[in-house]
Parts: sequence; structure tokens; C-alpha cells
Amino acid sequence: MKERGDRITVLTCYDVLFARLLEEEGVDMILVGDSLGQVVLGYDSTIPVTLEEMLHHGKAVVRGAPNTFVVLDLPFMSYQSSRRDALIAGGRAMKEAGVQGVKIEGGDPESCATVRALVRAGIPVMGHLGFTPQSVHALGGARVQGRGEDAARTVHEEAAALEEAGCFALVLELVPAALAAGVTESLRIPTIGIGAGPGCDGQVLVLPDALGLNPGFTPRFLKRFADLDGEARRGVRAFVEEVSEGRYPGAEHSFEGEG
Ligand code: KIV
Repeated sequence: MKERGDRITVLTCYDVLFARLLEEEGVDMILVGDSLGQVVLGYDSTIPVTLEEMLHHGKAVVRGAPNTFVVLDLPFMSYQSSRRDALIAGGRAMKEAGVQGVKIEGGDPESCATVRALVRAGIPVMGHLGFTPQSVHALGGARVQGRGEDAARTVHEEAAALEEAGCFALVLELVPAALAAGVTESLRIPTIGIGAGPGCDGQVLVLPDALGLNPGFTPRFLKRFADLDGEARRGVRAFVEEVSEGRYPGAEHSFEGEG
């Protein structure tokens, strides 16, 4: 797709119904993101998310989208502690959840060695640079990364190192648009941006944010493509009203026969 200049569409997903919908609507790649922690499980970051939780939701997504390329985030501390841990986590993602690849965060030499080990074992890996949510506390919050000459050079160097290590794609999160465009130009593998401007090869958004299910979350980069919060509230209010007033269920919703 990069060679053809086709933009790559990626959305996160955590359950079977939305997975089916994303596949039917032609999304190119589904990411079972560890944003699961915030948007499904109610944690305040991705840090508490466990591998078991990721696998549980990954399986549901693969059941719903069996013909779509599904990538699963390896969660915090499932791959940083040792190469062996990374291989076990990546192997479980492929064997148990049935995904086609995994994503890990970071581009330092240690991260690149982990990518190499996973790729050598036959596990496709997507990299993730810029703001890396598993390092939210080390980075001092969800801030734009790569501002200034030195920081931008580091992003460039780490992107090149991840490509060399064997990543098939690279997420760029919260980096200046010009930097993301420059990195995209310099790589053969596609970049997938989130808060990284229009110069990436593809774009990813967290599905509940993109569909307006999370109205309190209003970062600059986010566009709401639907108002599911409003629609869902209207539906819930109607249900409460109709049941309270005895208008639902009606005869058309009831079964005939002897009592
Ligand atoms: O977990 C996630 O949803 C992600 C995307 C923001 C890229 O990593």
C-alpha cells in the first residue's frame, strides 16, 4: 500500500461486534490496543493491563474479524523484562489469540534486539515511537515528543533502527507533523500516525474516541466521526421510559400459547 501511495486505515478494537463491523466496513488493519485499559477496563493508563486481558479481548476480535490483519499490543512488562518473556508473550498472542502480529513500544537498542528476536521467531512486529503510553510516567504525561533538533534526530534514528531490526510498520504517536512526514519519507516500511499529522502512510485512532463514545476526551488530534454517546443515551433513555410507562414490551414482542 505504501508503494502504491494508498493510505492505510487502522482502528483499535476490543470486542467481537465492533470487530465484525470494522471488517465489513473495510478497515485495513485492526489493533487490539492496550488502550483497552482506559476505554474498556476503566484503568487510568495502559500500565495495569495484563497479557491475559489482552489475549481475552484479542480472541474476541479475531473471532469477529477472521479475514482482517489483526495486531495485538504486548502490554507493559510482558516484553521489557527479558527476550524470553517477549517471545513467550508474542508466541501466546499468535497461538492463543490468533493475531497476525504484535506491537511493542520503544526504539532503543534493547527494544530493537527484542524486535529482532520476535521477528526471527516468525512473529511480525509493529514498532511504536513518539509518545509511548507505557512510559507515560517516565515521559511526564501524554506530551508531544520529538520537538527540538536532538529529540527529532533520536526519533529518526530509532525509526531507522526499528526498520533495520525487522518491524513491518511503525506507529508514530504525538510527534510534530513535519517530523512524522520526514520519518515516513525516510522509511521503506509504512508509518501509522496518531496525532502525527497527515504525512504518515496511514492513520490509527482509538475506536471509542473516534466514534464519540468517550466525550470527555478531547485532544487536539482527535476527530469524532460519529456521536455514539448521544445515540446510546437516546436509546437507553427510551428503554427506561417505555418500560417504566408499560409501553414495552408490546404484544408484538410477546409469545402466544398456553400459560
Ligand atoms: O493502545 C493503543 O490504542 C495504541 C494506539 C493509540 C496506537 O497503541
